[in-house]
Amino acid sequence: MLLGVNIDHIAVLREARRIGDPDPLDALGICKRAGADQITIHLREDRRHIQDSDAQNIIALSPLPVNLECATESSMIDIACRLRPHRVTLVPEKRQEVTTEGGLDVIGGYDKIQKTIAKLHDNDIEVSLFIDPKESIVVASRELGVEWIEFHTGRYANLYAMLYGNLSKTNHTLVEFELPRHTLKEMIKTELHTIEQQSAQAKTMGLQVAAGHGLNMQNVKAICAIGAIEELNIGQSIIARSIFTGLEQAIREMKAILDK
Ligand code: PXP
Repeated sequence: MLLGVNIDHIAVLREARRIGDPDPLDALGICKRAGADQITIHLREDRRHIQDSDAQNIIALSPLPVNLECATESSMIDIACRLRPHRVTLVPEKRQEVTTEGGLDVIGGYDKIQKTIAKLHDNDIEVSLFIDPKESIVVASRELGVEWIEFHTGRYANLYAMLYGNLSKTNHTLVEFELPRHTLKEMIKTELHTIEQQSAQAKTMGLQVAAGHGLNMQNVKAICAIGAIEELNIGQSIIARSIFTGLEQAIREMKAILDK
């Protein structure tokens, strides 16, 4: 299983003080040494963490392929075409969200996404769509001719956190909080089954399948067991653990679980 390390959270810490430290650029060599397969960054329209100069330097200097996440907006796509990362993952963006809260509306935004993909392909950039695990969305993604899809595992991760108790109720307004444990367990099973089914279907259609969001050393194991998924993009839990173990060790630990 390939591991993309999302290093946005290093820039989150830096932006908390608006000084030059820590610099996400310093993570590149460590990620490679630790066995990561890809660097993932999200250049948000509001520039809340990764800045244009970060994206430029990371893409120019990374010893690993860079997966640039961005919104389907012409200003962002122009930047991507200029910087030419290995891959662009198109993600939905809402200004007020704490993090990317759902998959891309591939059906509603079909025409705009189609034009965006054409532009990225013209610049020799492979394209991934960050989507919810739903058949109609997988089919539409296939029609759009992208190389990759990435399933949003946020719902699974939230349910898992509710069951095992590390999700802050004050920061989330999910109705599932009120549900009994056995119901949560059933919902997790159903969500995993859906991700598994949709991954298998996408692979059969010729798409390469990635997944990510909210994955950590515990909940990632069930996702790793899904054979059709080739790559996981993980940020928050790795960077959080690195505070105590160092980044290299945190990545090695995650990679060891993915390679089991
Ligand atoms: N994949 C995509 C497309 C994302 O937007 C994010 C979050 O930026 C991640 C993976 C990583 O999520 P997390 O930081 O929760 O591991």
